[in-house]
Amino acid sequence: MKKLLAFLMAGAIGAGAALAQAPAEPAGSFAAGENAFMLNGEPFVVKAAELHYPRIPAEYWEHRIEMCKALGMNTVCLYVFWNIHEPREGEFDFSGNNDIRKFCELAQKHGMYVIVRPGPYVCAEWEMGGLPWWLLKKEDIRLREQDPYFMERVNLFMEQVGKQLGDMTISKGGPIIMVQVENEYGSYGVDKPYVSAIRDIVKKNGFDDVALFQCDWSSNFENNGLDDLVWTMNFGTGANIDEQFRRLKELRPDAPLMCSEFWSGWFDKWGANHETRTADDMVAGIDEMLSKGISFSLYMTHGGTSWGHWAGANSPGFAPDVTSYDYDAPINEYGQPTPKYYLLRNTLQKYSDKKLPSVPKNKPVVAVKPFELTKYAPISAGVRRTVESTDMATMESLDMGWGSMIYTTALPALPAGSMLSINDPHDFAQVFIDGEYIGKVDRVKNEKTLILPAVKEGAKLEILIEAMGRINFGRAIKDFKGITDGVAVSYSSPQGHAVKYDLKNWRIDLIPDDYEVGVEALSRGIEAKAGERGYYKGTFKVNKPGDTFLDMSAWGKGQVWVNGHPLGRFWKIGPQQTLYMPGCWLNKGENEIIVLDVVGPEALSVEGLTTPKLDDLNLEKTNLHNNPGDCPDLNSATPAAAGAFSSGNGWQTVTFAAPAKGRYLAIQALSTQAGGEAAIAEIYALDANGQRLSREPWTAKYANSENDAQGNHTADKVYDLQESTYWATVPGVAAPHLIVIDLGSEQTVTGVEYLPRAEQGAPGSIKDYKIYLY
Ligand code: GLA
Ligand code: CA
Repeated sequence: MKKLLAFLMAGAIGAGAALAQAPAEPAGSFAAGENAFMLNGEPFVVKAAELHYPRIPAEYWEHRIEMCKALGMNTVCLYVFWNIHEPREGEFDFSGNNDIRKFCELAQKHGMYVIVRPGPYVCAEWEMGGLPWWLLKKEDIRLREQDPYFMERVNLFMEQVGKQLGDMTISKGGPIIMVQVENEYGSYGVDKPYVSAIRDIVKKNGFDDVALFQCDWSSNFENNGLDDLVWTMNFGTGANIDEQFRRLKELRPDAPLMCSEFWSGWFDKWGANHETRTADDMVAGIDEMLSKGISFSLYMTHGGTSWGHWAGANSPGFAPDVTSYDYDAPINEYGQPTPKYYLLRNTLQKYSDKKLPSVPKNKPVVAVKPFELTKYAPISAGVRRTVESTDMATMESLDMGWGSMIYTTALPALPAGSMLSINDPHDFAQVFIDGEYIGKVDRVKNEKTLILPAVKEGAKLEILIEAMGRINFGRAIKDFKGITDGVAVSYSSPQGHAVKYDLKNWRIDLIPDDYEVGVEALSRGIEAKAGERGYYKGTFKVNKPGDTFLDMSAWGKGQVWVNGHPLGRFWKIGPQQTLYMPGCWLNKGENEIIVLDVVGPEALSVEGLTTPKLDDLNLEKTNLHNNPGDCPDLNSATPAAAGAFSSGNGWQTVTFAAPAKGRYLAIQALSTQAGGEAAIAEIYALDANGQRLSREPWTAKYANSENDAQGNHTADKVYDLQESTYWATVPGVAAPHLIVIDLGSEQTVTGVEYLPRAEQGAPGSIKDYKIYLY
């Protein structure tokens, strides 16, 4: 009967079912019962596959859902990405690739339940964590707090989500069994009234008859936990699972357990190694959870691609995410099963009483022979609007969401060696004087200054700034683009006086990153040659459309569109060198490609490969923090604290006997609990009041050893706000180990909080330590 209804429903979808029409399945029920979730009155273990509809071409949605089903999952889990649905204030779009209702209907058609996570904030390595950029037009807005304007807009958005999905809850015959309230609020703040307000908004917009839950980390979920919601934990491959649920079990001994994000792999950032997580460890984690009746959602089961400008950036610091969201997930970026998939499928088969459906066929993959882009137009041809402004203005204040800007003004006479300070460049600035390239100022490297040659009074200063994704994690999500504050030049006069000019009277050119802008610029194009900044266009032939991977390794930095589809950002520093080109967006015969390269290509050629290159780092300078000149001499220094940590998982606090002052925090590991390498997952420094100091200005100054051969375990991982990532030394390098953090400015520190690795036995945990401030 159920099958027949599903079949009838599929027919209705094909015929273009009216939006508000109630799904045809009989009503069911889902709730958190005693020690188990109850589905239609029976205990039920949620095995959810996280996948994101805007990261998959709509043409492939059904294939990917079937892949999840064949893997042994019974549910799909998805975020709703506010900013893709409301590109401009009040203009909503739920069509085509944004058609969440269709996505959920497809899941139901294949007998899959659905977990919806409508935010409003979602994180997800997505531009601004899913929040629309235009919120920043209200400069003093408080995001993810009870700011009246923020809450008003959340309300309006949730109303739309309710219209799309509110009649698809299980009790109304739809597939939706759970709906999430906010997202990991514990890593943002402590604010139960705000989280309660979001709960009420979600409830009132169609979700008052469905299990509502909130997810967080085991270390912080109590801060914002509401009594009437289901609580779930997020943690990654390798985590000590009993330890992750220990506190929750104490507080709610009879609650069913669920890991709402079990991280199968991890995301990649420009300029850092490709991330992977071992298949065996991932599967062991799932096996352990299932053996204990614990529900889970595997984040990601299929990661897909952050097309166009939708990739976000991590913080503290500024670490923009690459375009691929492969995530080292069981189903790779282009929808194919990996060895991880088959290993996991075997395990999920063990816990299923039915034989799993066979694995769907792969989408075809094709090669495209090398071809050249032949037409060119300079970046200035993309200027859509110019404004004059005495003071600096951000992109948002000038009503643009994404793209590049050129800030132009006249310089005073300057002696050689003067310093240009850009406060702050968001994100990648290139500086020109009288048309000549002087250098770049890259936010990823925390750069803000550039040394200038001598210039004559009135010389033309141009700063070309390309914005990357807005930060999606932590307090820094309020990430304005362009130049956020001001630009100054300074030098010391021959008499030794400091001379400084705050530059004023700007001409600001706005270059949106829309496809149409490139098309229009190129309509006035000329013959292309390599090495120029600007738009390039070419065509290529495909006999049989299929998935392919466009090799951009000859190109500098920018974005690509094929047949009008934005494929995303490329950057020669890697690790991603190819862009996924889905076959469903290619034509048989001729195809158009447009590239915007803000740095300039070395050659004009592109080709389509049959496998992606996601692991090819091409840095000018190493990522490691091992410059001997940065290593302090601590021999005669007095430690602020010395002692031994205890063994095991979880946070430990060291309180100094007396407050210590310094800009640099050095932690020496004299020995480890198990011998062998040392590791630290997270570090906080405590201020004079015993509160955690903000880690936003922190940078890694020095580490004697960093394991970047097996993963990404550089020193910056100790303050990246992620408990599952860690600094680790290279196996075989003997203690003592040293890590030094630059706190950004001199601070008074009264103690340190230390978190060892989250895995069973806390591998690499430190025993004897000395802590210094200098
Ligand atoms: C958190 C967030 C997710 C995602 C993962 C990392 O768990 O909730 O949206 O950002 O981290 O991939
Ligand atoms: Ca970390």
